[in-house]
Amino acid sequence: MITLKSDREIQLMHESGKLLAACHKELAKMIEPGISTLEIDHFVEKYLKKHGATAEQKGYKGYEFATCASINDEICHGYPRKAPLKNGDIVTIDFVVNLNGSLADSAWSYAVGHISNEAKELLEVTENCLYKGIEQACIGNRIGDIGHAIQTYAESKGFSVVKDFTGHGIGATIHEDPQILHYGSPGRGIRLKEGMVITIEPMINEGLWQSQMDANGWTARTIDGKLSAQYEHTIAITKNGPLILTQQ
Ligand code: MF3
Ligand code: CO
Repeated sequence: MITLKSDREIQLMHESGKLLAACHKELAKMIEPGISTLEIDHFVEKYLKKHGATAEQKGYKGYEFATCASINDEICHGYPRKAPLKNGDIVTIDFVVNLNGSLADSAWSYAVGHISNEAKELLEVTENCLYKGIEQACIGNRIGDIGHAIQTYAESKGFSVVKDFTGHGIGATIHEDPQILHYGSPGRGIRLKEGMVITIEPMINEGLWQSQMDANGWTARTIDGKLSAQYEHTIAITKNGPLILTQQ
């Protein structure tokens, strides 16, 4: 069931999103060789607490951390860990803020020190994929328009789109209807309506699109060991077009 949000509800989710964006801006400064993703996780948890919010992912379906931290060939839901990040790594930090019951969700990929040109291109293309998708998030467009824009662009750059994980509606809980595929055909799928709030969160691979699940039951990684990146915003569908609630 798709729930439409009132202007007031969107406003409150926007407050949550602004806090999330500010937290990303802070943690971005910490990312360098030697820091661990567990330290970043603890920083995020404390930062949110200090600002009267909580990390919604902690305890969600048994997930034990405030953030997901996915390194190099990890696609999503990587566990924060003690091992320090290394020069040349890429890492995606993903978390959900709960501010007075209003949620916002955003993931960002970061370069650790100096990264290869190929990794740089992957980050650039994946971020562009996010904005190509957002451009399509207008009243009257269909969900397939979002996926098509992302897939066409990613594949034109020689990269592939992960199909096993999708964006989603978000509101009182992290995952609501509808699913937002990051691939697809224009003019297909449900129509976007005013008041829908969704995430667009393309995961783009350097090599093959397929994923495999780690033994922990959470972490997905590429099957060929090549890199994967992800950028995610929470977006409200409004009369004035897509409103990014997690803009940094
Ligand atoms: N933030 C994630 C998303 O984009 C949700 C992570 S699942 C969790 O959908 F269990 F780790 F929270
Ligand atoms: Co997320």
